[in-house]
Amino acid sequence: MTTTPETLPAAPGDARAPGAVLPPLRIGPLTVTTPVVLAPMAGVTNAAFRRLCRESGAGLYVAEMVTSRALVERSPESFRIISFEPDEVPRSVQLYGVDPTTIGAAVRLLVEEDRADHVDLNFGCPVPKVTRRGGGAVLPWKRELFASIVRAAVDAARPYGVPVTVKMRKGIDDDHLTYVEAGLTAQDAGVASVALHGRTAADYYSGTADWDAIATLKEAVTDIPVLGNGDIWSAEDALAMVAHTGCDGVVVGRGCQGRPWLFADLAAAFAGSDERIRPGLGEVARVVRRHAELMVDHFGEESKALREMRKHMAWYLKGYVVGGETRAALGLVSSLAELDDRLAGLDLDQPYPGDAAEGPRGRAGSPKRPILPYGWLDSRELSEDFRRDLHEAELSVSGG
Ligand SMILES: Cc1cc2nc3c(=O)[nH]c(=O)nc-3n(C[C@H](O)[C@H](O)[C@H](O)COP(=O)(O)O)c2cc1C
Repeated sequence: MTTTPETLPAAPGDARAPGAVLPPLRIGPLTVTTPVVLAPMAGVTNAAFRRLCRESGAGLYVAEMVTSRALVERSPESFRIISFEPDEVPRSVQLYGVDPTTIGAAVRLLVEEDRADHVDLNFGCPVPKVTRRGGGAVLPWKRELFASIVRAAVDAARPYGVPVTVKMRKGIDDDHLTYVEAGLTAQDAGVASVALHGRTAADYYSGTADWDAIATLKEAVTDIPVLGNGDIWSAEDALAMVAHTGCDGVVVGRGCQGRPWLFADLAAAFAGSDERIRPGLGEVARVVRRHAELMVDHFGEESKALREMRKHMAWYLKGYVVGGETRAALGLVSSLAELDDRLAGLDLDQPYPGDAAEGPRGRAGSPKRPILPYGWLDSRELSEDFRRDLHEAELSVSGG
């Protein structure tokens, strides 16, 4: 993952800035000059975190996934998830669902009430609470259901000019791969781009992402942009993925946890510059403080916001020398005043630690056999029982 791509020759009509590695990413009517997408991450990519990322770089920043049922039922939590700051353009929402009718209704709500400029569909989630209902990464196995969901979303969004995209994994496991077929189905259904996380549901977050699969998808899906996702920990990794796969843009998840400035590195890299942000601990502490303030604004409640900040704290401090006690204490703060107090106790002159702050971060672990609805693998078609109960299979609570 260390090679740097040659700048590809500009194709006719390619409005690429001089030196840029790739042309702008076109997602339907949206133009994303730096072809980088912040991966939707439940519990992470809320309006506060997206603001930090937006301030650092350029790209498309997707909100946490919201379940179509919760949205249609207008749960307060789902409306928090799809809340955007007034200056956030485009407003990118990710929807999860298993029932075409509910998905269609959710997309209609979003577009008719002018709540989104882009809708991404989640076919990548591997968590048991989702897969046991036939959702997320295991859904494209049911090819007609997948096509119906995508069509329902595209048809609802089309009159409003809102592009719909698909984000998926390779399939259920190595014996049940679905991504090429799903990519072609999505293209036929009128989606504006497809993104592939190079893992199966069974891989969960283990091992390394299969970038060859992204290259295979790029060869198969030729009419719309193909985005690559998985294991981009640095701007160099992003360039390497483009070189390896020929993808039209990259989707970055865990690599930016505790490192919203990665978007500055990515913007520089795609513009052909080798400038990189290498913050010392003092700068990191300032970003943590700002993140916490934005979280308080977002959640409207200091203790809730600081509770939500806890996981970010470990990510921000990765690689810096911070005593175990201080690290633990930072993970327990419940007010901004307490946070200030703890941050002031850090060695704020400490420089960027180099490799210790780089590389994998966030979720990892070993492969897991996906939990599936009864008889799911027996057929590519939906059983009558499952079809009848589709609405029941919808999750009403968001969060992945
Ligand atoms: C904490 C966390 C939450 C996630 N939530 C979502 C989600 O809501 N929707 C989704 O499509 N993927 C979700 N993902 C998967 C990421 O979008 C991404 O596909 C995956 O992490 C691989 O990319 P990465 O290697 O850059 O992290 C989540 C991942 C993590 C680590």
